[in-house]
Amino acid sequence: MTTPNPEVHGPLSRSDFGDEFQWGCSTSAFQIEGGASEGGRVPSIWDTFCETPGKIRDASNGKVACDHFHRWPDDMALAQSLGLNAYRFSISWPRIFSARGAAPNEEGLAFYSDMIDGMLARGLVPWVTLYHWDLPQYLQDQGGWTNRDTVAAFVEYADVVTKRLGDRVKNWITHNEPWCTAIHGNLDGMHAPGIKSVPTALQVCHNVLLSHGLAVPVIRANVPGARVGIALSLHPVEPASDSVADRDAVVRHDAFRNRWFLDALYGRGYPSVPMTMLGKDAPHIAPGDMEAIAVRTDFLGVNYYFPEVVKHDAEGGFLETTVVLPEGRQRTDFGWEVAPAGLTALLARIAREYDAGDLYVTENGSCYDDHPDAAGNVADSARRDYLVRHLHAVRAAREQGAPVKGYFAWSLLDNFEWSEGYLRRFGIAYVDFETQRRTLKSSGQWYKGFLRG
Ligand code: FCB
Repeated sequence: MTTPNPEVHGPLSRSDFGDEFQWGCSTSAFQIEGGASEGGRVPSIWDTFCETPGKIRDASNGKVACDHFHRWPDDMALAQSLGLNAYRFSISWPRIFSARGAAPNEEGLAFYSDMIDGMLARGLVPWVTLYHWDLPQYLQDQGGWTNRDTVAAFVEYADVVTKRLGDRVKNWITHNEPWCTAIHGNLDGMHAPGIKSVPTALQVCHNVLLSHGLAVPVIRANVPGARVGIALSLHPVEPASDSVADRDAVVRHDAFRNRWFLDALYGRGYPSVPMTMLGKDAPHIAPGDMEAIAVRTDFLGVNYYFPEVVKHDAEGGFLETTVVLPEGRQRTDFGWEVAPAGLTALLARIAREYDAGDLYVTENGSCYDDHPDAAGNVADSARRDYLVRHLHAVRAAREQGAPVKGYFAWSLLDNFEWSEGYLRRFGIAYVDFETQRRTLKSSGQWYKGFLRG
């Protein structure tokens, strides 16, 4: 397939991004680890969700996933062979604490400690996410993120993990995509724990941000030279038409999709418009919460996949907006629009409007259902094209002055894509889930060639 590449200007080389640039891949614990009942791990909300009929499209689960729990040395060797100098992964909270108030699980800590040694030995700078959606089930049983004790539990978990690993790990991401934790988990119910309630979702959202704010100083105190941030899922928002109603819808949608998080994190509080529309469903905010959330951080992680096109819709939830999918736009096999210019615009906007420090693209990638051909090659030309165009977009943002210091492709491996199970492949390496064999796809070969110059 050939695709017009309006954004691709001139050749692209690693040196365009400077020597310090972090080149990585991103993964998350539940999506790749497996080993679900090994090493003292207890169930997370995702284990429970997977066991609930009808929640996962292929009725699968994370019990084995990519078997990374056993195969991580090979996976780190693969990352090294690509020429990466960084690797982003998440820690599974239920591997570290088996119950509220329990002592930390030494086996769980040792697993990550060994893996970090393995990364460092292979020239990979570890970037750790503390929370990538796998809340221990015992915490959900006491109300999950709506309960402020979960906030306290998160801070204790962050404390234990950073004390143990902070001698070697300097880059800490508190949360991955709080919007998804809150909204997919508690409003549309697509993700664990599968709740559908506006006030619950908004309280979860607030408490997750609060837990970020309270954890940051603890991490800093434990880790000499720590660099701490959060990773947000951000989306440029466009109107479905030129009508005033649709343009107003953009303002409301953007205010929750993007500004709710950015404004709060960078000291402006929650935007007033969703707040007033929420009325009695607005989150309960205790004195001091907003100051805590606005704690100074060192960087912002930007997870970018696609822009959203919205229209006014009086029935469209508390924002009164609906996302529409205009015809004629290039899309991945997941239906997500391919729009590299959106990444440039997003990074430039953050740099212009917020004092966020360094920016890292902590996730960016595409879903295409390519499989090995007769010769065993996975010719994923559309994913390769997506990667090339988005790297051009990052370079363009840097040229516009955005302080983008790293890029992490989602993902190293095909993996468990949440409610879609194993039906959606995002890896630059193909995983045969029967044999656990990994095969670098054309996109991965391209990335390797690019990184190795
Ligand atoms: C992001 C998630 C990540 C993965 C990609 C495709 O929203 O952070 O775990 O599922 O989408």
